Amino acid sequence: MSEPAMELIDVKKTIGRKEIIKGLSFTINKGEVFGFIGPNGAGKTTTIRMMVGLIKISQGDVKILGNSIKSNFKEAIREVGAIVENPEMYPFMTGMQNLEHYARMIPGITRERIQEVIQLVGLEKPIKEKVGRYSLGMRQRLGIAQALLHSPSVLILDEPTNGLDPAGIKEIRQYIRRLASEENVAVIISSHLLSEIELMCDRIGIIKNGELVAIQSVHESTDATSKQIKIQMEVNPIAKAIELLQSQHDIIAETTDHLLTFQSEKESIPAIIKSLVNQDVAVYQVTASKVSLEDKFFDLIGENTIE
Ligand SMILES: Nc1ncnc2c1ncn2[C@@H]1O[C@H](COP(=O)(O)OP(=O)(O)OP(=O)(O)O)[C@@H](O)[C@H]1O
Ligand SMILES: [Mg+2]
Repeated sequence: MSEPAMELIDVKKTIGRKEIIKGLSFTINKGEVFGFIGPNGAGKTTTIRMMVGLIKISQGDVKILGNSIKSNFKEAIREVGAIVENPEMYPFMTGMQNLEHYARMIPGITRERIQEVIQLVGLEKPIKEKVGRYSLGMRQRLGIAQALLHSPSVLILDEPTNGLDPAGIKEIRQYIRRLASEENVAVIISSHLLSEIELMCDRIGIIKNGELVAIQSVHESTDATSKQIKIQMEVNPIAKAIELLQSQHDIIAETTDHLLTFQSEKESIPAIIKSLVNQDVAVYQVTASKVSLEDKFFDLIGENTIE
């Protein structure tokens, strides 16, 4: 059964007079990969900094395995591994030397554990090379290995795919999935690009202006309660069709690649076609598909890719 690893309870952050985070509540379970998505300035880093105790929580609480980061900091933070800013690595030392150096600062890290994390992120081969020669993706994986050394229950990564090429993203994706299943870690990954992390997440939480606007499982393509589907039509003239849809069906349609695109219920399709034909709009084809996560993200954020 799903067991909560981290819980956010009505978390707020006010800086100066500005409320930057406006009451976030959600739970991340063990073994789950949770995507924290939102445009630039939405409040992802601020939230993450509160989760790991780098800045104070103005109101609310974060609990890690039931321990409050506010009142039980030591017990709570023991279970957290994170990369918030770029991980500090010494380029003139090998990957192994970097890990050993870091391990010396934490009590109880064994040789075996170091080997284990190296395997988890697939760095067996280059681990004896100097970090200065690592690619960005390899450096990220070394950072993840370092964050995992003390066997945390929660791993938090702020924009781990930033600057990586598609191959690098794919690698990170594989290792993240693997450590969620093999180590039963709850992984929280932030990103401003849905497409980059969608494939590695079980659930996505969308944040905008310091508020959570949606939480959705990646696998159930839309929530079961919604009967909305995405409909595309080839019609002529398009402008007239858009006008009719709005005036007679209260539907806001747009055009993509010369196709009329809108969301509606399946049951409404016949009536829509009928009214278009009655008003001399020619209908050449109609396709219906599920509303994808991408469509939903677009609806909520108003942009597809946010830079
Ligand atoms: N120390 C601060 N003082 C004042 N405002 C701040 C401070 N830190 C963050 N903010 C503001 O809070 C908002 C959220 O910033 P945050 O860095 O958390 O966003 P983000 O979602 O991580 O964005 P990005 O995708 O660019 O990393 C922004 O409007 C930012 O300007
Ligand atoms: Mg950020």
